[in-house]
Amino acid sequence: MIELGGGSLLSQMEALVHDWDGSTERRYCHLANASALLCEHLERVIWVGFYLTVPGTERLVLGPFQGKVACTDISFTRGVCGLAARTKQSVRIADVHQIPDHIACDSASQSELVIPLFSPSHDVVGVLDIDSAEVGRFTEEDQRDMETVAALLSHRLWT
Ligand code: SME
Repeated sequence: MIELGGGSLLSQMEALVHDWDGSTERRYCHLANASALLCEHLERVIWVGFYLTVPGTERLVLGPFQGKVACTDISFTRGVCGLAARTKQSVRIADVHQIPDHIACDSASQSELVIPLFSPSHDVVGVLDIDSAEVGRFTEEDQRDMETVAALLSHRLWT
């Protein structure tokens, strides 16, 4: 896990997302800070944020993020985010131009990492989406680290 002066990203994230009161407002509050913390820690990324599942549907809607204006609605049937949501698997794309289904919110995006977030019953409650302007930016280790972060957020904010 990435280490900085203030401790590991995970320990900072744990400190940040304590005390969820069960409200949607507070969940958004914590996800907003989580996106800011990730943006601060991750190098060479241009967009970090969350798409959240509209309850009872297979649609994602834009949640808290850092970066340029992004598309607001993504079906589970579309894009890299939709692929992660429908397969319940992380998706790491070295070159988004090789993926015809990729939704280009920012033409500068070259590579992408999307990690699903889960409810206790293993429904997808949203995805963590990270974009880079560098081809092949994300490593297996990045994927594992972000899966750990996503698991923490799922556990703290959807239980
Ligand atoms: N590229 C994503 C869409 C979201 S933006 O990257 C912020 C996709 O293909 O689902």
